[in-house]
Amino acid sequence: MINKVAIIGSGAMGTGIGQVAAANGCEVIFFDAIPETLVHSRQSLSFTMQSLIVKNKISEADAADIITRSKWTNTLADIADADLVVEAIIEDIQIKRSMLREVAALVSENCIVTSNTSSLSVTSLASVLKYPNKFAGLHFFNPAPVMKLVEVIPALQTDSDVTSTLTQLMAQWSKVPVTARDTPGFIVNRVARPYYGEALRIFDEGLAGCTAIDEAMKEIGGFRMGPFELMDFIGHDVNYRVTESVYNAMYQDPRYKPSLTQRSLMEAGWLGRKSGKGFYEYPELKEVLPGRKEQLNKMQIFERIFAMLVNEAADAVYLNVCSEEDVDKAMKLGTNYPRGLMEWGKEYGMDKVAATMKSLYEKYLEDRYRPSAYLTSI
Ligand SMILES: NC(=O)c1ccc[n+]([C@@H]2O[C@H](COP(=O)([O-])OP(=O)(O)OC[C@H]3O[C@@H](n4cnc5c(N)ncnc54)[C@H](O)[C@@H]3O)[C@@H](O)[C@H]2O)c1
Repeated sequence: MINKVAIIGSGAMGTGIGQVAAANGCEVIFFDAIPETLVHSRQSLSFTMQSLIVKNKISEADAADIITRSKWTNTLADIADADLVVEAIIEDIQIKRSMLREVAALVSENCIVTSNTSSLSVTSLASVLKYPNKFAGLHFFNPAPVMKLVEVIPALQTDSDVTSTLTQLMAQWSKVPVTARDTPGFIVNRVARPYYGEALRIFDEGLAGCTAIDEAMKEIGGFRMGPFELMDFIGHDVNYRVTESVYNAMYQDPRYKPSLTQRSLMEAGWLGRKSGKGFYEYPELKEVLPGRKEQLNKMQIFERIFAMLVNEAADAVYLNVCSEEDVDKAMKLGTNYPRGLMEWGKEYGMDKVAATMKSLYEKYLEDRYRPSAYLTSI
C-alpha cells in the first residue's frame, strides 16, 4: 500500500505531483534543498486550492484535507518512512544520481523510488542505488495535476511487480499510465520529434514558410497548434535541447537531427513567446524569417510531416519501446494530438505512409527517411 509519498525537489513538477498524491489520500512530504522553494511550493498549493474552490472544482473541506496531508521539509531524513519517493530535481544526471543515492540510503527496502526525469537513462540512475530493483521512471507531464498521461519506465533492473504497482497506482490517481522501455525520449519526447524536425527541415529547404506549414497541420491535420507556433510556445531553448539530447542519445541518428535555424534562434535569444520573438513576432504573429518560396502545397506539407510521425510511432512499436495502444494514448494525452498516430495511420493507409517514406528516401538518399520495418513488413 502506498500511503506516504515523498517528493524530492518541490519546483513546478514536484509541487504538482505532490498535489495529485495528496488529492488521492496520500500523506505527502515535500523536500527541497532551497528553503524559499519550500515556501513557494506551500504558497502555490494553497493558491491552487483557493482557485479550485472558487471554480467549484473542490469543496473547502477536501482542499483543507489536502493541505493537512502535506508537509514541507528541508531535512532529508524526514522522508525515511515514505512508501514512494518521486524525485523531481534539476535535470542533471550527476546531481540526480547523488540525490537518489542519499534517498536510497534512508528509505526502507520496500520503498519504491522513482524519478520524473524527461530525458535521462533510468537504468543509469538505478545503477547507483542500493535497491535498483525498486527503482523506475515515473514521467508526469506539465502541469501534473491537469495532464492525464504518466509514462512508467522500468529500468533494466526494475522488478516487474514495481512496474505493475506504479501502473495500478497511477490508474487509482485517475491518471492514464503507459509503459515505455527505457530508451531516449521514452514515448512522447521521441515520437513527437518529427512534428518539429520535419517542419524545420521543410522550412530550412525553403519549400514552405512557417505560416503555411502551421496552417497545413492545423487545417488538414486538426492539430491545435502548428509546429512553429508550438516551438515558439515551448521555447527554443527547451525544444532545441530536447531534440539535441534525443539525437545524441540515439548515436546521431539523422532522423532526430536538430535544425541549425532553431539553434540560431536560441543563440539570438529569440526563444519564442516568452521573449516576444521566435519564428513569429508577438503579439502581431508576424513571420520573423519570411521570404521563402512556397514550393509545397498544404496537402504535401501535411502528408510529409504526417508520414514521418506515423513512421516514428510505428518504429517505436516495432522496436518494443511501447505497445500500439500505449503510443496512441501517449500522443493524444501527452501532446494533445487530435488522434493516435497508429489508428490514424491505419485509417489513412499505412501503405500510403510507406509510399511517402519511400519517395522521400529515394529523393534525398538519406537514412533520415528510411521507412520503419513495421511499414515494410505489412
Ligand atoms: N517542467 C516540465 O515541463 C517537465 C515535465 C516533465 C518532467 N520534467 C522533469 O521534472 C524535473 C523537475 O523539473 P521542474 O520543471 O519541476 O524544475 P524546477 O526548476 O521547477 O524544480 C526543480 C527543483 O529541484 C530543486 N533542486 C535542485 N537541485 C536539488 C538538490 N540537489 N536537492 C534538492 N532539491 C534540488 C530546486 O530547488 C527546484 O525547486 C526535471 O527532471 C525535469 O526534466 C519537467
